[in-house]
Amino acid sequence: MPTTNPQTAAKSTATQRCIDPACGSRFDINERIYVCSNCGGLLDVVQELATSAEQLQDLWTRRLASNDARDRSGVWRYRELLPFADEAPIVSLAEGNTPIYEAPRSAAYCGLNALSLKHQGCNPTGSFKDTGMTVALTQAVSLGVGTVVCASTGNTAASLAAYAARAKLQCAILVPRGQISHAKLAQSLDYGATVLELAGNFDDAMRAIRELAEDESIYLVNSINPFRIEGQKTVAAELLHQRGWQVPDHVVVPGGNLGNSTALGKGFSELKELGFITRLPRLSVVQAAGAAPFASLFKSEVKHETLDWTSWPALIPMEHPHTLATAIKIGAPVSWQKALRAVLTSEGKVLSVNEQEIADAKAIVGLDGVGCEPASASTVAGIKRLVADGTIGPEDDVVAVLTGHVLKDTDYVIRYHQDNLFSDMETSKRSKIKGAYRNPPALVEPTREAIMKKLKSKDVSTKPRR
Ligand code: F0G
Repeated sequence: MPTTNPQTAAKSTATQRCIDPACGSRFDINERIYVCSNCGGLLDVVQELATSAEQLQDLWTRRLASNDARDRSGVWRYRELLPFADEAPIVSLAEGNTPIYEAPRSAAYCGLNALSLKHQGCNPTGSFKDTGMTVALTQAVSLGVGTVVCASTGNTAASLAAYAARAKLQCAILVPRGQISHAKLAQSLDYGATVLELAGNFDDAMRAIRELAEDESIYLVNSINPFRIEGQKTVAAELLHQRGWQVPDHVVVPGGNLGNSTALGKGFSELKELGFITRLPRLSVVQAAGAAPFASLFKSEVKHETLDWTSWPALIPMEHPHTLATAIKIGAPVSWQKALRAVLTSEGKVLSVNEQEIADAKAIVGLDGVGCEPASASTVAGIKRLVADGTIGPEDDVVAVLTGHVLKDTDYVIRYHQDNLFSDMETSKRSKIKGAYRNPPALVEPTREAIMKKLKSKDVSTKPRR
C-alpha cells in the first residue's frame, strides 16, 4: 500500500503524474509509488514555477560564489527546479560541478571541427548517478524510510552505497554476479552497503528488486523512481549555465536503462518551457550493439512519421544482452517510453555501435587526456557514425556526455592496451578487439642507458604527438 508522510520536505505544489496522456493520473508528491497505480505507466514529477528565467539565471550565477552547501552542489544550486521546499535538509556530497572539456583529438576522430565532453565521471563516486542519488536519498530521508535498495550494473550501486552512508540509512544493492567491474564492487563494499550478488543478469536483478519494493519498509532508488530523474535533469541546467545558456545543436548520451536520456530530455524541455532557451538540442542515444533493444525499436520505426510516442509499438526486450561495456549491459530498459518521448520531442536519434568502435573511441578520449569508462565512450563512437551519415554536420556544436570515470574499469583498459581484449570474455564464441590505438607498457632494465635506448627506439617515442 502507498504511504504518505505529512512531515516531508517536498513542495506541496509538486505532484507525480502518469506519463500516459490517456491516463494522466496524479498522485501526491509524497506517495511512495514507482508506477501509476491505475494503469502501470511511469511517473513524472511536475510542478509550477513562479519565478522568471532571468531572475533564476541571476540567482544561480550568484550562488556560484556562495559557500552554502546547497549552492556548492551542482544539483541543489538549481533547487528551484526540484520538488523540495527551499529549507529542506539535503543529503549531498557536493555532486555535479562537472567540467566541460574541449576534445580536439576526439573531434578530429569523429570528423568534427570541435567536440565538447561533459564529464559526469567527475562526480564524487565517479559517475553521473550521484546527481540523481542526492535527490532520491533526500526524499528517502524525508519520507522516513528504513532501507534503500537498487539493482545495478555497478555505478548506481556505488552511488547509492555512498549516499546511504551519508544519510545513515541501511542499504542493499543487487548486482549480477561476476558481471560488474571490480572498482564498482569495491566502492560499494567500502561504503558499507549490503551487497547481494545474484545468479542472473541486470534485468533479472531489476525484476527481483521491483518485487522486493512492494514491501513498505523498502525504498527503491533505481531510475524508475522519479526523484532520481529530477536530480539528473539538473545536468541540463548546469550544462547550459556553463555555456552561458547557448544551446548545443546535439547532445549525445549512452543508453542502458534509459534514465539518463529521460532526465536530460526532461531538463531541456522544462528549461525551454520556462523561457531559458528557445530551442532544444537534438538528444541522441547510443547503445552497445549486443544490448540495443531501444536502437532496434527505433530502427524498426524509421518510417514512422509520428512524434507521438504513445502510438509506437512496445519495445521488445533482448533476452541475453552482452557487451564489454558492462554498465549498459541491459536488455529490458525500464524507462524506454520516457526516453522515446525525449528523443522524439528533440528530433534526436537512437543508434548502436559495436565493441571495436567503443574500444577505439575510448582510447581516443584517453588521448585527449580525459578518459572515461567503456559505456561512456559509446557516445563518441556514436557521434562518429552520426557525422558519417550526415545527421551531424562537421561544424555543428556537439556535446558528448561521458557518464563514468576511466578508473571504473581498469581491467578493460589494460586488456585493450595489451591487445588482449575479446568481444565476449565469457563464451567460446569470442572475437578479438584490435588494440588499434594501443599503448602497452614496455619492459626495460633499470639503467640510464637502457631507458635512454628505449626512449629513442621505434616502439617508444618521446616526440610530441600531433
Ligand atoms: N553509462 C554508465 C557509466 C552507466 O553506469 C550507465 C548505467 C549508463 C551509462 C546508462 O545510463 O541506464 O540511465 O541509460 N548504469 C546503471 C547502473 C544501469 O546500475 O549503474 P541509463
